[in-house]
Amino acid sequence: MVTLVLGLLSLSGLCAFLALLLEAAHAVFADYGPCRISINGGAKELSVKGGGRLLGTLMDQGIFIPSACGGRGSCGLCKVRVLEGGGPLLPTETPYMNAQEVADGTRLSCQVRVRTDLVIQIPEAFFLIREFRARVVGLKPLTPFIKEVHLKLLDPPEIVFKPGQFIQFQVPEYEGSPEPVYRAYSIASPARLKNEIKLVITRVERGVATTYIHTLLKEGDEVRINGPYGDFYLRHSDREMIMIGTGSGLAPLMSILHHMADEKIDRPCTLYFGVKSRQDLFYQEEIHELGAKLSRFRYVPVLSQPLPEDRWDGETGFVTDAVARDVTDGSRMEAYLCGNPLMINAAVKLLMERGVTEDRIFFDKFG
Ligand SMILES: Cc1cc2nc3c(=O)[nH]c(=O)nc-3n(C[C@H](O)[C@H](O)[C@H](O)COP(=O)(O)OP(=O)(O)OC[C@H]3O[C@@H](n4cnc5c(N)ncnc54)[C@H](O)[C@@H]3O)c2cc1C
Ligand code: FES
Repeated sequence: MVTLVLGLLSLSGLCAFLALLLEAAHAVFADYGPCRISINGGAKELSVKGGGRLLGTLMDQGIFIPSACGGRGSCGLCKVRVLEGGGPLLPTETPYMNAQEVADGTRLSCQVRVRTDLVIQIPEAFFLIREFRARVVGLKPLTPFIKEVHLKLLDPPEIVFKPGQFIQFQVPEYEGSPEPVYRAYSIASPARLKNEIKLVITRVERGVATTYIHTLLKEGDEVRINGPYGDFYLRHSDREMIMIGTGSGLAPLMSILHHMADEKIDRPCTLYFGVKSRQDLFYQEEIHELGAKLSRFRYVPVLSQPLPEDRWDGETGFVTDAVARDVTDGSRMEAYLCGNPLMINAAVKLLMERGVTEDRIFFDKFG
């Protein structure tokens, strides 16, 4: 068994090394010269250096395509239609495409390389996505593993977003990363504050971006973000809401709650917040303050591993256990889920079993 695991590890290490080698060789030897990219029937024409990935090439030209995985081919968000010049669909793309998308030339822009002139089609809304320069004006530990990053926007000075959406944060080249990388972070602050945003970032062991953010980022630093992105945002309706978050998955739910309090959207709403122990709870005061403004709001923190010193007499177990205990008929509910993918899979299954229809379950998986 140990030999098998070691074998698999060395094989995946070898594959990663070969991929890196190929990428490096490509960067050094391949020369595709200048290429033209014609967008939306010629509405925009770009002249670019060939050889790069379409996602990054467009980004260099100030056109931002939604992406949550930083171009690693694992989020499926960076879809554009490539009408000419994209070459064949790659095996890395097929898991993210349905039959209609295959037929209409939809591609993952992070997987398509610009080798020749391209004709592409993108939604007009993508032209509204911007890159921002921002200043770090606050860094606050919220729990032993979670930090709040407070950014003031410099240029452009304002961002317009829907509560629940995310931005991409650019981590510059540093000893943990030979090149800049982008990672998605949800906006935790209210949408009414357009000149500043707050992010809530969990440190991931050996994580490229979060190691930088937790150990090297300083107050006063200038950073780059782009956005806003995503279709995880509050829908207009008067349905009862159920919100479930784990860890930093509370971030977009806070932005939604702020918006509800600001706009007096007093729908019945229960927020379930799942963490391990009391030290992992954060924004407790803010949640209670917002709850006081919303007459039909209920807050249910759930600890999966309470410590003896926590003296916890609230809900325990997985956050979905608490939901299962409470929700018997979800047929008139709308659900907003955010956090770790395992929780979200379990919550979607449970909510559907309890009658919440699939089209009323919205989620962002952090992973
Ligand atoms: C739409 C969206 C919104 C997001 N919003 C937030 C947010 O508000 N706050 C936040 O903290 N994160 C958020 N994330 C996750 C974030 O984008 C990064 O994936 C995360 O910060 C890890 O980045 P990294 O570069 O440090 O780790 P990487 O270097 O990318 O990964 C290192 C290793 O850790 C694993 N890993 C990656 N993410 C996690 C994780 N969350 N838990 C455990 N292991 C992990 C990877 O599989 C890999 O093996 C969001 C993700 C998405 C898709
Ligand atoms: S950027 Fe995530 S799949 Fe392309």
